[in-house]
Amino acid sequence: MADRAPPVDPGFGVYVHWPFCKAKCPYCDFNSHVRHAPPDEARFLAAFRAEIGHMRERTGQRRTQSVFFGGGTPSLMAPATVEGILTAIDAAWPLDARAEVTLEANPTSVEAGRFRGYRAAGINRVSLGVQALDDSSLKALGRMHTAAEALQAVAIARSAFERSSFDLIYARPDQKPEDWARELERAIAEGCEHLSLYQLTIEDGTPFAALHRAGKLKTPDPDVARALWDVTQETTAAAGLPAYEISNHARCGAESRHNLLYWRYGEYAGIGPGAHGRLDTPEGRRATSTERGPEQWLGRVEADGHGLVVDEGLSRPEQADEYLIMGLRLAEGIDRHRFAALSGRDFDAIRVAALIGEGMLEERADGRLRVTPQGFPVLDAIVADLAA
Ligand SMILES: C[S@@+](CC[C@H](N)C(=O)[O-])C[C@H]1O[C@@H](n2cnc3c(N)ncnc32)[C@H](O)[C@@H]1O
Ligand code: SF4
Repeated sequence: MADRAPPVDPGFGVYVHWPFCKAKCPYCDFNSHVRHAPPDEARFLAAFRAEIGHMRERTGQRRTQSVFFGGGTPSLMAPATVEGILTAIDAAWPLDARAEVTLEANPTSVEAGRFRGYRAAGINRVSLGVQALDDSSLKALGRMHTAAEALQAVAIARSAFERSSFDLIYARPDQKPEDWARELERAIAEGCEHLSLYQLTIEDGTPFAALHRAGKLKTPDPDVARALWDVTQETTAAAGLPAYEISNHARCGAESRHNLLYWRYGEYAGIGPGAHGRLDTPEGRRATSTERGPEQWLGRVEADGHGLVVDEGLSRPEQADEYLIMGLRLAEGIDRHRFAALSGRDFDAIRVAALIGEGMLEERADGRLRVTPQGFPVLDAIVADLAA
């Protein structure tokens, strides 16, 4: 991302969680569930409406700059359900004329068949979980689509929506940097404005974690992982899609506004099972999350009008830590004045100078602090150092 200054007010967005998938991928620990019978969408829509109304009472008036339907697999929802939720959001917090409205979709032909319906419902950006561009990797990842089917979904998405993105997972078992470079070039040749490139993470409690423990699934050793990371940065930057966040790449101006809102520590309402939010209320900033179990969430909303199970005030130093953790993921870095205003202290000058001296951190011309490309692979250590 160029050295443009970010907006002073990060804005307000709405996250909507749809917690169902056709099958559970063996690497995934998102709040996603498989059900034999299709969920009762009318009942869920009524519950989404109720929870939106409840959150509106908490926030007061807002204009919505972005909406993100995440999952799970939101592309299993009927377009009419998506439209009903968007209508309720617009009634609660009017959608800005230029609002970014994203839906996460799995790239199967069935789902691509619904894209025009989503467009008519008000979706203007789609994010596709392509994951890999070769069939053997897709099989190993437990995916229900082929590479050809995924690329077809990418093409349909491009024609149906103004904006689109797709996700790939790298640092897969046995993946070589030269193979990944070729795969990434193939992905870039699709001409997307935005790519999310995630290193495979072995999440506790998943089938991949059990295989990994048993020595049956080997992730790349640190040298290969570093080479894969370097290939990712070099290939995307050369193609005009530099990283604007540790795992997200975009052409200038095509960054995901919704994700920027999280990383710039803006305000967002989290609606649906297991959704997180950060609300600015008359009592101050609050961290919220809802019941994760889909049916339990429905039950709570039907009884109480909301599914909140966490609703906690955040002290200003806690907000400063969250701002640091989120903001340092961004190439644009963080505003030291905003950090100081929240935490009541500036960073330790000796630590900052040491990190700058080691080439891990840099100060932009406008005074913002950001992690350098060499620093990103050890981001957690840098955050811990600055927060101490
Ligand atoms: C919430 S998931 C849902 C997307 C959609 N359901 C799909 O699978 O196509 C968002 C993205 O997180 C990434 N992801 C999920 N689990 C991961 C893991 N263990 N390691 C790396 N990336 C992961 C995948 O790229 C996925 O597309
Ligand atoms: S990766 Fe996507 S499709 Fe697979 S289980 Fe997770 S949310 Fe569902």
